[in-house]
Amino acid sequence: MENKLNVVAFAGSLREQSLHKMLVNAAKELAPDNMNIEHLDISNVPLFNADLETDGFPAPVEAFRNKVAASDGIILAVPEYNGSMPGVLKNAIDWLSRGGLLAKRPSITMGGSPGALGGTKAQEHMRQSMMHLGMYVMPRPTIAIPQMGNKFTDGKLVDEATRGFVAQQLQEFGIWISRFN
Ligand code: FNR
Repeated sequence: MENKLNVVAFAGSLREQSLHKMLVNAAKELAPDNMNIEHLDISNVPLFNADLETDGFPAPVEAFRNKVAASDGIILAVPEYNGSMPGVLKNAIDWLSRGGLLAKRPSITMGGSPGALGGTKAQEHMRQSMMHLGMYVMPRPTIAIPQMGNKFTDGKLVDEATRGFVAQQLQEFGIWISRFN
């Protein structure tokens, strides 16, 4: 049997009721049959401090990096804070970037916001940083969900059109990953 693609995903929000965590859960559900998505919790990743890496990475960072290193692809669920990505997400990327771990890794972004624009600025900023790191960011399709709160009920993505967009992006992501294998 064909091995499944091993994809990791994490959300740039730590709150319990995060819509972006719910979006990652929707992605897990909507992934194509040949893809497994694991949701990585970044709540225990400390603030980046170069003094903390001189004797090896802190244990939560080491575990996080190992999961990413073993993956075939990365999904970032990107909320928008003040017209850009949240600090917790950039902090996670800063830790992962050490030693060039993220270079050449197939990746996508997805996200949304309560507003009309769906947090597109945050994703654009995130993607700039990802490309700076040499990540293989899939150009399209991208997912930007406006009025995001209305698309979920009891933690589940219920909006059919959005479910279709997510499923299509993940289908394309599987093909994108296989181009680099
Ligand atoms: C926001 N939010 C927000 N939304 C937006 O569309 N543009 C923005 O610039 C901002 N800025 C912003 C700053 C801060 C500090 C907060 C806390 C929030 C709203 C934000 O997108 C919304 O709270 C999302 O639901 C956050 O994602 P999670 O936590 O639901 O995953």
